[in-house]
Amino acid sequence: MIKKYYLLSPGPTPVPERALSAAAEPIFHHRTPEFSALFMEVTEGLKEVFGTKEDVYILTSSGTGAMETAVVNLLSPGDKVLTISGGKFGERWGNICKAYGVAYKEIALDPWGKDFSKEELEAELKAMPDCKAVFATLSETSSGAMFDIRGFGEAVAKTPAVLVVDGISGAGVTPCPMDDWKVDVFLSGSQKSFMIPPGLAYIALSQKAWALAANSKLPKFYFDLKKAKKNLADKTTPWTPGISLIVQQKHALDMIKKLGLEGLFAHHRVLADATRAGVKALGLELLAQRPGNVLTCCKVPAGIEGGKLVKTMQGKYMAYIAGGQEPYKGKIFRIAHLGYMGGFDIITALSALEMTLMDLGHKFEAGAGIKAAQAVLKENWQ
Ligand SMILES: Cc1ncc(COP(=O)(O)O)c(C=O)c1O
Repeated sequence: MIKKYYLLSPGPTPVPERALSAAAEPIFHHRTPEFSALFMEVTEGLKEVFGTKEDVYILTSSGTGAMETAVVNLLSPGDKVLTISGGKFGERWGNICKAYGVAYKEIALDPWGKDFSKEELEAELKAMPDCKAVFATLSETSSGAMFDIRGFGEAVAKTPAVLVVDGISGAGVTPCPMDDWKVDVFLSGSQKSFMIPPGLAYIALSQKAWALAANSKLPKFYFDLKKAKKNLADKTTPWTPGISLIVQQKHALDMIKKLGLEGLFAHHRVLADATRAGVKALGLELLAQRPGNVLTCCKVPAGIEGGKLVKTMQGKYMAYIAGGQEPYKGKIFRIAHLGYMGGFDIITALSALEMTLMDLGHKFEAGAGIKAAQAVLKENWQ
């Protein structure tokens, strides 16, 4: 058989054809009016997705670069912060703080997938009145969990601290209007719902965050946002930008504009509902207490080796879902439904999953997952 490759991972995600072909267009110079016009158009489009009147800065890095940018631009040595860690990516906030000598208290949610409430955050903030920043995650991609960012925004806004939110997988999938929800720093990456290849990261700061940044003493050079701000006023970037990726982003943003933000959120909601209905019909259990619409994270059923499940999905059926990360390796698997994915991608994923589970001896009614997902898709198809 011809084995077709199906990218069903929570990043990188598939790239729409128009954005894909834009990468093959001849390169042009970035210190030109042509580039400035494109750059400002993309910046405006990103502001809409972020739900902010503030400027969004385009960095040439993967998402982690924007996370590091947030830490080094806001803080000074010895500052105290809170990090909310519900998995691999929440944990990363602490690792970046550690690298820069920032004193952080990690709120480690155990097991992964456990929720954390606004009230619990309020109690933590009361116990740390000199907290400078709270680092949170909109969608924890390692567990499939969502967090109550709106509630966190209300809690943090009552204190001198700023709220920093990693929206790397969540932005554009699920609502998180930065200004309305009082998020002080929001950031994301290009390879998720922004529908282009990895390589760009996006970050915006509220006025409260800019005030903190004014006194920040941590070392920074490439990721110094003051340089980016000064250059943006001249419609350009401090360094050579990822020109082709920005061209690609323009085309992907055109698609987003056409659908509208609400349409984009509704699309992801339907894909997530269909996937959840499908896996539940197969007798599988979700890891997250508050599952989000970015990806569906399932526990590997008893008696099945998790590593084998992922290996069979990828190696035999070429369905590139993601496995679990340590310490959940072999215990969970993740099916993504973000970015340029359609309803039939969900059917493909569930079909490959059913065939894999049959191979591994899991007992279920064949076709039950596909049938359940189809019912959701059919009812919501527009
Ligand atoms: C929520 C979240 N945070 C951070 C990252 C890290 O981003 P990158 O791999 O682009 O540096 C990812 C990537 O999967 C993510 O999903």
